[in-house]
Amino acid sequence: MGWAKRQPTRREFLRQVGLAGVTIATGARAPAIWRRPRHAGAPRPAQLHLQFGTDAAREMVASWTTPEAVSRPRLRLGTPAGGMGTTVPAETRTYIDGLSGTEVLTHHATMQRLEPGTAYVYEVLHDGGAAIAGDFVTAPAGRTPFRFTSFGDQSTPVPGDGIASPWAGYVVDQVERLQPLFHLLNGDLCYANVSADRVAAWTHFFENDSRSARHRPWMPAAGNHENERGNGPIGYRAYQTRFTLPDSGAEPELRGLWYAFTAGSVRVVSLANDDVCYQDGGDTYVRGYSGGAQRAWLERTLAAARADPAIDWVVVCMHQTAISSARDANGCDRGIRETFVPLFDRYGVDVVVCGHEHHYERSHPLRGVERRSETLQPRAVGTRMDVIDTSAGTVHLVLGAGGTALPTNAGLWVPARARVIVGVGDRGANGRLQPRYVEEDAAAWSAARDLTHSYGFAAFDVEPGNAPGALTRLEVTYYNTAPSHTEPAVPLERFALVRRRSDAGIASIAPGPDVAPCDARKTVGSAARAA
Ligand SMILES: [Fe+2]
Ligand SMILES: [Fe+2]
Repeated sequence: MGWAKRQPTRREFLRQVGLAGVTIATGARAPAIWRRPRHAGAPRPAQLHLQFGTDAAREMVASWTTPEAVSRPRLRLGTPAGGMGTTVPAETRTYIDGLSGTEVLTHHATMQRLEPGTAYVYEVLHDGGAAIAGDFVTAPAGRTPFRFTSFGDQSTPVPGDGIASPWAGYVVDQVERLQPLFHLLNGDLCYANVSADRVAAWTHFFENDSRSARHRPWMPAAGNHENERGNGPIGYRAYQTRFTLPDSGAEPELRGLWYAFTAGSVRVVSLANDDVCYQDGGDTYVRGYSGGAQRAWLERTLAAARADPAIDWVVVCMHQTAISSARDANGCDRGIRETFVPLFDRYGVDVVVCGHEHHYERSHPLRGVERRSETLQPRAVGTRMDVIDTSAGTVHLVLGAGGTALPTNAGLWVPARARVIVGVGDRGANGRLQPRYVEEDAAAWSAARDLTHSYGFAAFDVEPGNAPGALTRLEVTYYNTAPSHTEPAVPLERFALVRRRSDAGIASIAPGPDVAPCDARKTVGSAARAA
């Protein structure tokens, strides 16, 4: 093992660590101290996880870390029947944590030209180190049934990390039992920015999620707790380095913060709400950092999705929320209501999954505003609970009960009201820009809340319909997480979202009598407590 006597040039660094020809991400700095990679006894890959490419049917990325530089990090790809075949070189990207000075090495292997709806096996390795294995199924091409799942605000199960809780571990096993094609992770991943050791929190997060995320992509959205002081110009360098997400065409410093991918008839759009929110929730206040680029991209992306006869469902994954009837948590943010929600309305987004509030809540279908008010109060366009026509309005789901030690279901307003952050003032004693709240009546738009259980997640089953222009359904189940690594989650409520398929040019026609009912209740959880 050799030690550098001076800061190496980039070429020297790459040659000495065996990465000549491998791209190091823009903005990554060479480490101040580094080790020559060992061959014999090299460390094992760790924190293995998957991400879809833009076309989820044909592209997948496997990502992992090593505690020190390694020689020829790579992936071997194969099929269950045929064994390993193709070798895919990995790109190594690094960042140096701005507080601890710890260098983090991440490796990313992009698998392309895959077959849709096909099972693959893979392993990741480097010279001298043992391989670790995973497997996955690519998304189907066209209109085929599949399942995806979602929650946000997970944390880790390791005491000492941020707001760690054992529930952050239970939920991984219960998602994995459902075998979704992919999982949407709606921001506030591991709360590294409020952990004494940020790198350790990220390590524990990936080690916890890997037992599912190495088998199916866990596709993230950036939350306010991904904003880390000293890690990049806007604070997301750890997040951006550790994930390889579909290319949005954004400038390099903003890559991976917003993106979209297509799975079957579903277009998923992931947003980074710190760009538009008024609230000061991260390590630094970065509102407006994209200069409008994200909103322009969102409009182009939604317009293209709605013009595509192969896309029926448009699902938005983001962190902070446009709706929440929490009295004691963060509340709704007018920044989302004024910047993104009008585009959700214009292009008919079907469902928004978010987090930030650590409880479960769903809205009625929403379109436009109730009246001219400072809060831009959304207008409910339906009240039916069991079957909802999302061509009439967007259903918002707050799914922030992923696993933290700070659930907020006990702080819901009864009866439902909301407080909306409509701006910020001067910095307060806590160093943050003080929120300015305006209250509104939420009874008209809040459809269901879980007042009783603190933890849960949602599953979505896509039923594509059987003919052009027929109804397609997204069956939604909200589960309560069980306090166990081995028991299944418990369904709390089920409902269906419906719309006409877009392949007959009649997407705006409301559903007819062929809508079958399913069960759901106005208020889930404890009615007694609500009273
Ligand atoms: Fe959170
Ligand atoms: Fe948050």
